[in-house]
Amino acid sequence: MSDIHELKEICLSRNTQILEYLYDELSKDKKFLICPASIDKHHNYEGGLVRHTLEVMKICKSMVETSDKYRADRQMKILNLDTILISALLHDYGKTSTYSKVDGEWHKTYDYTKSLHIYKSIEKAKELLNGSNLSQDVVYCIGSHHGRLDYGALWEPKTPEAWVLHLADMSSAFFIGA
Ligand SMILES: [Fe+2]
Ligand SMILES: [Fe+2]
Repeated sequence: MSDIHELKEICLSRNTQILEYLYDELSKDKKFLICPASIDKHHNYEGGLVRHTLEVMKICKSMVETSDKYRADRQMKILNLDTILISALLHDYGKTSTYSKVDGEWHKTYDYTKSLHIYKSIEKAKELLNGSNLSQDVVYCIGSHHGRLDYGALWEPKTPEAWVLHLADMSSAFFIGA
């Protein structure tokens, strides 16, 4: 099964309209389908952004499935998997604005910084989630997905949902896709 079809399967598995809608929007975006996740670091090949997004969503899902059982045993709050999956789906979507293909080669845009794609992802998430009460939590998770300010995060993760996204992002970027 192709990466984009697996991504679709995860989005549809939750039976929430918002994930179905987001999948529809992203899968229509040709740049999302071919964009690399980086130029010189992880998943630095055509289609790398979809592969990285898929890995992050799958890792998030299994972390939540594992932790919820034991969190419930200890009367801890169950994690909001929809918030996490939506944040994972959109966390690096802004990379479609920070990389472009010129003469057959992918390049960083002239104004590229470590944080630029995070601002762009938040911008796109706000547009897509316009009016949804999930929007604030998703923006929070996206803004902290790099974990540390010196790694480009806009703020550090403080909620369990933000931690899950950050840890899944690190696992995919440094353990699988490096
Ligand atoms: Fe990122
Ligand atoms: Fe990422």
